[in-house]
Amino acid sequence: MENINRVVLIGTGAVGCSYAYSMINQGVAEELVLIDVNEAKAEGEVMDLNHGMPFAPSPINVWHGSYRDCETADLVVITAGLPQKPGETRLELVEKNAKIFKQIIQNVMNSKFNGIFLVATNPVDILTYVTWKVSGLPKERVIGSGTVLDSARLRFAIGQYLKVDTRNVHAAIIGEHGDTELPVWSHAAVGIEPLKTVLENKKEISKECLQDIFVSVRDAAYHIIERKGATFYGIGMSLVRITKAILNNENSILTVSSYLNGEYGHSDVYVGVPAIINRSGIREIIELKLTEKEKTQFDHSVNVLKETMKPVIS
Ligand SMILES: NC(=O)c1ccc[n+]([C@@H]2O[C@H](COP(=O)([O-])OP(=O)(O)OC[C@H]3O[C@@H](n4cnc5c(N)ncnc54)[C@H](O)[C@@H]3O)[C@@H](O)[C@H]2O)c1
Repeated sequence: MENINRVVLIGTGAVGCSYAYSMINQGVAEELVLIDVNEAKAEGEVMDLNHGMPFAPSPINVWHGSYRDCETADLVVITAGLPQKPGETRLELVEKNAKIFKQIIQNVMNSKFNGIFLVATNPVDILTYVTWKVSGLPKERVIGSGTVLDSARLRFAIGQYLKVDTRNVHAAIIGEHGDTELPVWSHAAVGIEPLKTVLENKKEISKECLQDIFVSVRDAAYHIIERKGATFYGIGMSLVRITKAILNNENSILTVSSYLNGEYGHSDVYVGVPAIINRSGIREIIELKLTEKEKTQFDHSVNVLKETMKPVIS
């Protein structure tokens, strides 16, 4: 029984179900429990997902459960809450979702849960902080999806632009998962070549192109929401990537929302920064040497987050 990985997913909306679908198709974990305040919805999703099981790469036991199932869970993933409305910023969602979260975390902890939390609900950095506070778990075991999706969007866009496999593009977005996030151009690389060198050799690509790429990435959620009402596949796959890093003890580097305790000159805040992820959660935060401009942008992002979370944590 010791080798059985149990993941509990709370929130079976568009994001939660994209995650569950990806988990099954990638054969991650042995048990996946679905919980939602809308019980019929969770039940229906389980039925539908289970009907694809003959085609999954490995068996996975999926059921509609309750908070009691969290007791022996290795990972609880939270995608429950209200989604962003067209034109609404992620930070505007804060008070509504913080209230929902406090109740959910208490329900999970009442089960004697002692695993790792992974939070995706927006505003993700603030709700990860709320999860850490309410759960009382060590900061290393409370993780937010942070800027993992944003970094993936950036890697995809650069790959498209340079006509290079996106998996060979190494670039990160850090800061708040939202309007104040920033690209760390100073550390971006294509294959093993710094992006700066690639650009010097390709005169047709200007610095302005990079700024356009970043703006399209930063505003991607707004553009997608305008067209289809919500974003869910990209985040679903990002959450599976983090899940694999945890359950497989990968020591992978991902820009998750992590608790800063002096790193980057900030404390008592969750924000997207590169961190090494393994079976114990966040093993280590990687402190990048930022340029002055990047540091100023990062400080601004953290300050905006801190200001916004004030009413929620007091
Ligand atoms: N972190 C990211 O990069 C990222 C990306 C996309 C979306 N999101 C966020 O993910 C969240 C979910 O988005 P969605 O599109 O799946 O929304 P959705 O409305 O489709 O699903 C939300 C689900 O949460 C459930 N829910 C609400 N209150 C609950 C409670 N108290 N207990 C259990 N379940 C509850 C609802 O019944 C619903 O099924 C939103 O906050 C959205 O902004 C985050």
